[in-house]
Amino acid sequence: MAPVPEDEYLLLVNREHPIGRGNAPEDLTELSGTRADGRPTQTMRKCAAMALNAMFLELDRLGYLDRTSPDGLTFSVTSGYRSYEYQASLFETYKSQYMAGGMTEEQAIARVSRTTARPGESEHQTGLCVDMHDRLCATTEFEHSPVFAWLSENAWKFGFILRYPKGKEEITGYSYEPWHYRYVGRFHAERIHRAGLCLEEYVS
Ligand code: DAL
Ligand code: ZN
Repeated sequence: MAPVPEDEYLLLVNREHPIGRGNAPEDLTELSGTRADGRPTQTMRKCAAMALNAMFLELDRLGYLDRTSPDGLTFSVTSGYRSYEYQASLFETYKSQYMAGGMTEEQAIARVSRTTARPGESEHQTGLCVDMHDRLCATTEFEHSPVFAWLSENAWKFGFILRYPKGKEEITGYSYEPWHYRYVGRFHAERIHRAGLCLEEYVS
């Protein structure tokens, strides 16, 4: 078998670089850190999943996880791999909510597009990223959490980068998301972290 090129995990997916509708990874692997609130066990591609599971073991050892929380509300993965169809339903749900609040369809699409990718434009479809936090819903308040401080110092050691950093909104095209981490492998994660770049800057 040929060696895996070290940039296999640098795949860039955004509005300018959509991923095909039928594109689904074949090595999806379960995430032990999935939020225990009844949602399906979330998955990522195998290499990313193993790295994330290792990171959760470390977080557990350091006392950051409350595995006895009855409602599963502890630092955990709320979303991993998402199919094209699931991303489409997510986008529609948010759009309908804004329209129910009085926005026109055009306004609602513009508003949702700041935070949620359209189907085919989400890197969640690559199986290389996760949303993880300790709040009921993903909110920027998560950046004040001790576990976020730990992630900011250590996630790169496991091959993960913050995908939508504060101050890079013009380049990534999305609002700051302290909960969305992308696996790029340790080699690139270290370089991206040290240089303070976002993925678009690093790959260009
Ligand atoms: N929240 C990110 C941009 C997504 O929906 O893929
Ligand atoms: Zn995300």
